[in-house]
Amino acid sequence: MLVVDDEEGPRQSVRVIFKDEFEILMAADGPAAIEFAQKNKIDVAVLDIRMAGMSGIEVLERLKYVDPSIEAVMMTAFETTDTMRQALRLRACDYINKPFDIGTMRAAVSNAMQRRTLESEIHNNAEQLQELLAELQNHKIAEQMSQKRGEIYASIIHDINGPLTVISGFIQLLNQRIGNSTRLEVEDLEFIKDRLKTITRQVTNCIEISRRYLSFLGRQSDEAPRVGVNDMLTDLNHLVNVHPSLHNNQFTIHPLSENLSARIIGTDLIQILLNLAVNGFQCSPRPHSVSIEAQSLLRPVDLAALKDGTQDRILNVESFENNPPLVMHSVRDDGPGIPAETLPKIFQPYFTTKGSRQGTGLGLNIVQRLVKTAKGALHVHTEVGKGTTFTLYLPAAPLGGR
Ligand SMILES: Nc1ncnc2c1ncn2[C@@H]1O[C@H](COP(=O)(O)OP(=O)(O)OP(=O)(O)O)[C@@H](O)[C@H]1O
Ligand SMILES: [Mg+2]
Repeated sequence: MLVVDDEEGPRQSVRVIFKDEFEILMAADGPAAIEFAQKNKIDVAVLDIRMAGMSGIEVLERLKYVDPSIEAVMMTAFETTDTMRQALRLRACDYINKPFDIGTMRAAVSNAMQRRTLESEIHNNAEQLQELLAELQNHKIAEQMSQKRGEIYASIIHDINGPLTVISGFIQLLNQRIGNSTRLEVEDLEFIKDRLKTITRQVTNCIEISRRYLSFLGRQSDEAPRVGVNDMLTDLNHLVNVHPSLHNNQFTIHPLSENLSARIIGTDLIQILLNLAVNGFQCSPRPHSVSIEAQSLLRPVDLAALKDGTQDRILNVESFENNPPLVMHSVRDDGPGIPAETLPKIFQPYFTTKGSRQGTGLGLNIVQRLVKTAKGALHVHTEVGKGTTFTLYLPAAPLGGR
């Protein structure tokens, strides 16, 4: 506690009152008081307003400058209300009249002390809270990002790879055709125009793919995801029709007779079905057919009937939300089927039978992860020599409803 008064008498009486409770520093003028405050931790200052040289108001202002948390009790004799207002504006805690009685002085100082403790507690708590919040926030973001970033990058690279292959192949073709010529013939121009059209389409495709992923990154995660199944199938149809793996294969889509929402992020559903369809196209070099059929289910799936075996594989039974309404997508091909010894491996990351130039072996692994995230299930049934059907089950909701 700091007592500032230019008269010895009042200084001593304040000291006598508080000498057993606080450590007391006494200053006879402003400069001495300020020096004390710079060198010591002051909780409460009792300041006489009228002093020779520096006034108590000025001392208060400077003390608050040195340490804003110092609480001050002003002692007044016959000051104007203006002076008092000024003191309060400078955040003095209280003022008492001189000559003071012991009770009033005690009350004022204990009040100031309480305020000081409280404020430092609030201050400390607020600081701690702030630190904790920042830590929590960082933690949360870091966790989310580390979970998603790698997966999303892998997915983008996987999906953009197809269109990029076409683009680079067509650019090579153009180079071969016009690389050495000094003049272009009409047929050259036709050739170039035609190839440029395809390139443009594939570039648009790449942009579309990255746009979808980016919008997914920025998505609010607490909003329940959903997508209109038939609208998504229309989008998918566009994507498949410009996809390089389509070749001469036949592709058909059978939408829902009555549209429903699937409880999944739209880009995820497209990615799942596109991966399955592309696998369907790539399973044989001979022209064959691939179809996607959507159907709604009003009963739970009979999971007991779907068991892992030499021709079957069922994924994510443990966290599948098997409550109707459900929506089912079957991706069917009439290709060579999957041999029993290969079937258990197809969902492993980097497993491919296509050679490293053709496949990364990530497609079905990405599909598996997306099905899990959506709390869906995936069933594979395959017959060697006849073909393969991947069936995706997802929780659904009426269109527009929650
Ligand atoms: N419809 C299918 N018919 C026959 N085999 C399939 C079918 N779908 C997947 N497979 C087998 O599963 C393997 C893994 O498929 P996945 O999609 O994970 O990788 P990939 O197609 O080889 O490569 P990527 O998808 O990365 O280009 C394939 O290499 C293939 O052997
Ligand atoms: Mg694949």
